[in-house]
Formats: sequence, C-alpha cells, structure tokens
Amino acid sequence: MIRAVDLFSFSLPLLRWLDPEDAHRLAIQGLKLLPPVRPRADDPKLAVRAFGLNFPNPVGMAAGFDKNAEAADALLRFGFGFVEIGTVTPKPQAGNERPRLFRLERDEAIINRMGFNNDGADAVLRRLASRAHLGGIVGVNIGANKDSPDRVADYVKLIEAFAPVASYFTVNVSSPNTPGLRNLQQAHILDDLLAKVIDARERVRETAGDTPVLLKIAPDLSLAELDEVVHVARSRRVDGMVVANTTVGRPSTLREAERAREQGGLSGRPLFRLATRMVAETYVRVESAFPLVGVGGIDSGGAALMKIRAGASLIQLYSPLIYKGLGLVEDIKNDLVSTLLRTGREHLAEIVGADAAALTAEDWPG
Ligand SMILES: Cc1cc2nc3c(=O)[nH]c(=O)nc-3n(C[C@H](O)[C@H](O)[C@H](O)COP(=O)(O)O)c2cc1C
Repeated sequence: MIRAVDLFSFSLPLLRWLDPEDAHRLAIQGLKLLPPVRPRADDPKLAVRAFGLNFPNPVGMAAGFDKNAEAADALLRFGFGFVEIGTVTPKPQAGNERPRLFRLERDEAIINRMGFNNDGADAVLRRLASRAHLGGIVGVNIGANKDSPDRVADYVKLIEAFAPVASYFTVNVSSPNTPGLRNLQQAHILDDLLAKVIDARERVRETAGDTPVLLKIAPDLSLAELDEVVHVARSRRVDGMVVANTTVGRPSTLREAERAREQGGLSGRPLFRLATRMVAETYVRVESAFPLVGVGGIDSGGAALMKIRAGASLIQLYSPLIYKGLGLVEDIKNDLVSTLLRTGREHLAEIVGADAAALTAEDWPG
C-alpha cells in the first residue's frame, strides 16, 4: 500500500517546476497536513550518543528548512534522527528581497541569500512549547537580528528564552547573508560571545536543564582561523560544532555559470568536498573534546559515510533533499546499516574520524 508519506516524499522533487521559494512553502504546508504515522523504528546500530543526548539515528534536518518550527514533528516522522529549526532571531524579520533562493539544477546546488527571514522568538517559542510533550530531538539554531545594536545580547536572550524547549542550541555565526555576522568568528569576538552564551545556559540550568551548545562555522575559514575558532570553542567548553554552513566561494567546476553569479551562500553537491575537508580539519584539531555534526552536500549513503569517516558523529541534510526527495533519509540509513553489517561493526562511532588524518594530507579541494 502506498503511504501518504511515501507519496509526499516522491513528489518533492516535482516541486522543482515551481519558483524555489513557493516550492519550499508548499513543502512545509504539505508536511503539516500529513497524517501522523509512527516512524519505522531505527536499527539499534544507528543509535548515536552525543552531547548527552540519545539520537535514534545520525541523520538530521539541517537549519534553514524549517526556520519557524512548523514541521518539526512531521520531519521526525519521516525518519530524521533530529531536526534543527531556525535560524531564529529575537525579533521577526522579513529577510532580503525576493528572489533570494536559486536552484543550480545541473550542479544539484542551491544559492540562497534569504537573510534570516523568520517569525521571531515569541512565535517560534509558542510553537515549540506546544509540541514539547511529543519528544524527539529538536535543536534550535539561533542568530542575531540584522539591525541589532548588540548582537551578543541577541544570542543571550535566545538562550534564556528557548532553553526549556530546545534539545540543543546551535550558535550560528556563519550565515553569509547577514552583513558582518561572520565577523563573530574572529577569535576575540567569538570568545566573548561564547563566554556569555555559556553563562546564560548556566543561569537557566536550574529550571531548564543542561542544554548543549554547538557552534556552526563557515566552510570558508582559513586553517589559521580554524585553529583559533577551535581553540576558543574548546576553552569555552562548547558541546560540539556544526561544520559547515553555505560557502561564499564558487568552485570552478560549476556548470550553471550564470546562476552561480547570484550573491549568497552555495550549498548542495558542489559544497561536499570543501565541507568534508573542513570536518576533517576540525576533527584533528578538536582531539575528541566534543563531537561534530557534518553537513554540506550529502546526497547518498556513500557521501554520508565519507562525512562520518572524516569526523562527523552526526550528519545533516538540506539541499540534496530538493533534488533527491525525502526518501534520501531512508536510503542513507539503509546504506549505513549495510556498511556496518558488511564490515562487522557494532556502531557508527567505531568509524568516526577514521579518514580524518589522511584527508588533511590531500590537496585542497578546488
Ligand atoms: C535555503 C537555505 C536556507 C538556509 N538557512 C539557514 C539558516 O537559517 N541557518 C543556518 O545555520 N543554516 C542555514 N542554511 C545552511 C544549511 O543548514 C547547511 O549548512 C548548508 O545548506 C549545507 O548543507 P546542504 O548542502 O545539505 O544544503 C540554509 C541553507 C539553505 C539552502
């Protein structure tokens, strides 16, 4: 029998005939309308324990798809092990003018310059509070308003407000679409930001519990900058890092040359090599102080495995879902289980980072 979820998953790539942002809106609405079916239970081999949380499987929905926490439960029912909502800012924000989302079809890539369009903290908090009893791992990705006079204070406010309903936080300092935001990755600014964010988390710990704080970085950092970022992240004792956000770079291999000139962050298949290299570079610097979430261009089980072997304990997807459909989640999980069975391994943890050192010795991805 064809289930509604299967039909929806199959039809997702068909939405590519529409304007990309209309298609995205329709996908969110469709997800909200799906009947609540229980997800298939995950193979216990896929279970991951990271930052004190038990993930049923390592495949997460990346930030930016469900910015306003409208479809988190539907996504969990599709088999994601976790969902990251946001980026949320304290005040509602319209984002940049449309068009601001572009498909590079032949490259299986996306360029976006959305600019943190979101409903704002109050509305998103209400939605998360009303689904909190349902459980599942729902992380909250936080950012500063474009016109904020004090960006650090924005992050602190969001930590205090969302701690009771967030499974974890991702501090997003790597979106290329809010002018100056990525400057927060500079060591002395990042140190101050993380100190205040972790302080805020500690202040609300009594009432909200211990909410892990992750840091999401750009794939465009130089290795010297990465040295500093990892040093600060370790000294401020963050719980993990998400590697990576979209790139402002444009690989010379892109076929959609015209579209590639659009301003914004590039994601999807052409990001895979750079983002995977950054996972490996981060992994060797972190020295197992905390786990990494690998994201960028994961469009198959093989790509998921490469990201994990580069150093990711968990992975996230966004752009490849637009080209492959939501069935990609099950495909990746099945491939990971087959690989574990074939190689006689009990858990994914046994292969995390297996290729990291070798990858860092390769030529820089062009
Ligand atoms: C349309 C779009 C919007 C995004 N919005 C956000 C966002 O609000 N916050 C964030 O941290 N990342 C955002 N991202 C980045 C993704 O979370 C992810 O890091 C990046 O797209 C690389 O993964 P992918 O190749 O699987 O898409 C966005 C990506 C896309 C394509």
